[in-house]
Amino acid sequence: MGNLTGRTALITGAAMGNGLGIARVMAQKGALVIMTDKSEQVFESARRLEESEKGVRTAAYQMDVTDPDCVRDVVREAEAAHGPLHILVNNAGVSLLTDIREMDEKLRKLHFDVNIQGAWNCVKAVLPGMMERHYGRLIHMSSVTGPVVCDPANIAYATTKAALLGFSKAIAIDTAEYNITSNAILPGYFMTPMVQLTAEETDPNDPQRVLDEIAESVPVKRLGRPEEIGYLAAFLASDEAAYITGAEIRIDGGSTLPETSCVGR
Ligand SMILES: NC(=O)c1ccc[n+]([C@@H]2O[C@H](COP(=O)([O-])OP(=O)(O)OC[C@H]3O[C@@H](n4cnc5c(N)ncnc54)[C@H](O)[C@@H]3O)[C@@H](O)[C@H]2O)c1
Repeated sequence: MGNLTGRTALITGAAMGNGLGIARVMAQKGALVIMTDKSEQVFESARRLEESEKGVRTAAYQMDVTDPDCVRDVVREAEAAHGPLHILVNNAGVSLLTDIREMDEKLRKLHFDVNIQGAWNCVKAVLPGMMERHYGRLIHMSSVTGPVVCDPANIAYATTKAALLGFSKAIAIDTAEYNITSNAILPGYFMTPMVQLTAEETDPNDPQRVLDEIAESVPVKRLGRPEEIGYLAAFLASDEAAYITGAEIRIDGGSTLPETSCVGR
């Protein structure tokens, strides 16, 4: 028995990357994992997860977090089929670099729609049921980018990831008496398709160089693995974490630690 046995978790953006890592760990810890994604790849990812991990339980739905009607329908359908949702992980996100001089509106809209409005839509769909039942665990995937640090060309992404902290805290204070917690995870660099794309945008000729340099700049000398975010998310989703709410937790291999690159070296 894991510490999420009997719980049902809906995870957005679960077809790949961090969302898939979170789904894997939560399923290993006993949760019934409702994997959702805009991409139909989510069905194959859920099938493979069930194949590779003995005894885990998953369900998969195609869901675009930017479409409130679609989110509401999937939540209704999932709850009708699998019972009440206890856990929501707002993980779906996009990250594209943009020149500060352009402040491209299309790119701004895409980031705001997926990263902020998407999280809003999902909370709106699950919160009434959680408040009625006096139980809920809400986890939002922010980033160290925005709230703590920022590399160049990240204006659209960084803005959204900082916004999620206010969003998470506002939910935390309004739902604390309902036995609902709301917390934000702030990852550093994790090896996912998103980071592969960032490396390709940065140096189309040699993305591996970018990945190697990122790893070199992190005190633990590597990028994170999606399952490592999964362990943190699973803890925040457990009953043991009942006293943690409105928190922002960094998971970055120490990447935000160095104050200079010279002192004491
Ligand atoms: N990888 C990192 O280093 C890193 C660091 C900090 C924060 N994060 C955050 O972690 C989360 C996951 O990142 P990742 O690196 O796994 O990204 P990824 O691009 O590898 O995977 C993101 C998933 O979200 C899905 N998605 C995109 N738009 C969607 C939409 N409108 N509706 C539903 N699903 C949608 C994609 O199809 C994909 O499966 C994001 O919120 C990201 O900002 C990642």
